[in-house]
Amino acid sequence: MVDYKKLADKILAKAIIKPEIALILGSGLGYITEHFENATIIEYKNIEGLPQSTVEGHKGRFVIGKFQGSSIIAMDGRFHYYEGHHIRDIVMPIYIFKEMDIKRLIITNAAGGINRSFLPGDIVAITDVINLAFKNPLIGPNNEKYGTRFPDMSSVIDQEWLDKVENGATEAGIELKRGTYIWVTGPSYETPAEIKAYELLGADMVGMSTVPEIIAASHCGMRILAFSCITNMASGILDKKLDHQEVVITAQRVRSKFRRIVNIALEA
Ligand code: 6GU
Repeated sequence: MVDYKKLADKILAKAIIKPEIALILGSGLGYITEHFENATIIEYKNIEGLPQSTVEGHKGRFVIGKFQGSSIIAMDGRFHYYEGHHIRDIVMPIYIFKEMDIKRLIITNAAGGINRSFLPGDIVAITDVINLAFKNPLIGPNNEKYGTRFPDMSSVIDQEWLDKVENGATEAGIELKRGTYIWVTGPSYETPAEIKAYELLGADMVGMSTVPEIIAASHCGMRILAFSCITNMASGILDKKLDHQEVVITAQRVRSKFRRIVNIALEA
């Protein structure tokens, strides 16, 4: 079994501050770390035992620093199942954060809009998820130290925390939508028939991440918030082809709105 404590200590030994909140940044959303004070940057490749991230727009590093008064460890680049990693390896950072005694986690991602009331550039608070990849990071021996064999998933998002964020967003005049996120493995985008099916299943947006991290963080008892940036509409919703460049460009366009939502979440 992986010694998450050893990895946590290795990372903390390089940092100036002790992080209290973890932030996972999706495609094109890593720029937020530019605003960190006293930042320590630790490349995944310099931490032996971690998987390596391979996607354009994803840097592959931890950034530890102060942001708006909070001590944060951010993942600028995450691990995806489609990269070929084992499903358990994708959630290694979650258990490392747990060993750092981190109690709150904010997850972000770029997602395709299925709900027809969404527009590219919308920020959506994830209220629930659907695991359509049918991969579970908890398969294998359970470490009781972290959580129970059969974790409850009836309220994975911290409703109290989300209520505060929604109030804060309203006060700040920032539109924050709500939705159910469906996880697929990728890396190919969906067909129009698939998107039609996901719509019937109750999904508002689709993406290739986040659900493994939510399962693991919920297993080990973290308070979780998750946000999708709608970077494009999913296939068949508009008469238009999909490409990764559009995902990156829209994510960049919503920089300031996205940063303000994260700010509010940190203060809430
Ligand atoms: Cl349309 N699909 C998936 N699976 N992931 C996405 C996406 C679509 N847009 C951004 N990420």
